Amino acid sequence: EDGVYKFYFDGEWRKSSSGKTVPIINPTTRETHFRVQACTQEEVKKIVETSKAVQKSWAKTPLWKRAELLHKAAAILKEHKAPIAECLVKEIAKPAKDAVTEVVRSGDLVSYCAEEGVRILGEGQFLVSDSFPGNERTKYCLTSKIPLGVVLAIPPFNYPVNLAVSKIAPALIAGNSLVLKPPTQGAVAALHMVHCFHLAGFPKGLISCVTGKGSEIGDFLTMHPGINCISFTGGDTGIAISKKAGMVPLQMELGGKDGCIILEDADLDLAAANIVKGGFSYSGQRCTAVKVVLVMESVANTLVEKVQAKVAKLSVGRPEDDCDITPVVTESSANFIEGLVMDAKEKGATFCQEYKREGNLIWPLLLDNVRPDMRIAWEEPFGPVLPVIRINSVEEGINHCNASNFGLQGCVFTRDINKAILISDAMETGTVQINSAPARGPDHFPFQGLKDSGIGSQGITNSINMMTKTKSTVINLP
Ligand code: G3P
Repeated sequence: EDGVYKFYFDGEWRKSSSGKTVPIINPTTRETHFRVQACTQEEVKKIVETSKAVQKSWAKTPLWKRAELLHKAAAILKEHKAPIAECLVKEIAKPAKDAVTEVVRSGDLVSYCAEEGVRILGEGQFLVSDSFPGNERTKYCLTSKIPLGVVLAIPPFNYPVNLAVSKIAPALIAGNSLVLKPPTQGAVAALHMVHCFHLAGFPKGLISCVTGKGSEIGDFLTMHPGINCISFTGGDTGIAISKKAGMVPLQMELGGKDGCIILEDADLDLAAANIVKGGFSYSGQRCTAVKVVLVMESVANTLVEKVQAKVAKLSVGRPEDDCDITPVVTESSANFIEGLVMDAKEKGATFCQEYKREGNLIWPLLLDNVRPDMRIAWEEPFGPVLPVIRINSVEEGINHCNASNFGLQGCVFTRDINKAILISDAMETGTVQINSAPARGPDHFPFQGLKDSGIGSQGITNSINMMTKTKSTVINLP
């Protein structure tokens, strides 16, 4: 059947025994574009069991061979960039060029991960006992990194390919097997990406991709005793998963309300360019998007004018035409964004543009004079609407950021590096960018959120380490 995709298990593409499918609605046309299998709990059970068995032999496969396969998968992924990007355009309305960039970045991530893996997993420690009081040099301790077992990867809709491989590649190089549960919007792009791993020739059953309704298989998967690690990126669901998951390492990257603090001495052109890029790329649907601008009153008028001029130049329309602003992922997301905008309007925010919406397409909107009693001052729109709060002191800006329940990233614009460092130290976020918009990449940088923004740290090296455990062997001399 056209447009109906199978799930991937034991090296084969299969139909679910449920006989049911889940529709993927194209955000632009708001019509069903693809369908994926609605897998059952029974199928999930089989997948986890097989993953467990296959992992044992994969862990014994030489590290250089594991790396070689990953390099192969990376090359195939890049060769398939056009059809995968096409899926991203149809499933999540990602602008055409950004969709290609996502796939290429993913290939690079997989290769880098293979290289990093052979280095850091190729080394262990050697310790001697006589450094600790009371011991002679009679014990030699050898350590190495061993895999955890079965890693469950749950990426979000905004990077169905990149945030899948950022979990898959570290898991595999470290000797784990991998179960992928892609987001519904983006599932076909993810299946196509998995096909690239299939073509690379990984052992059967090492990677599986299970699709379906979260309500049907979500808890069953995350609470399954055969899962040894969960790497999740997304929203509040991550908090629920953390509470229900068993005693397994968790890597959670959840929401953000990244603040952008603009000091009086800032390069306002640089700041404006970064606010527009940071706030409106992929229509604001990034957890690292600039989600609130906190600008010193004395430069606020000039900054807002500069940002407004750039917002006016953003193209609005279809992802196929590579427009800057494209429809947001679902109708309910568009309704939520609209709710935040209307709340701010009622409470007296200044609209720098007219609010306009057609279906899921929301025109970019800058809201000036936002105050703390407005929902948009705190909540994450995940859309092309950006609040500006005018501040009278740097402390006011820092306090606003730190009062948030999120703590992903933040940024500060100033020419004074000493002030910038002090502000970075004061901001309760996982990362602070000086003179640039927040961003996760380059993908080998550590990436982590404080508070409700997450658990653990990502980035290639951190993810490889997180998906392993230290094993020690102690030689006791007579
Ligand atoms: O929203 C997902 C998050 O990981 C953002 O990544 O590359 O857009 O900063 P990036």
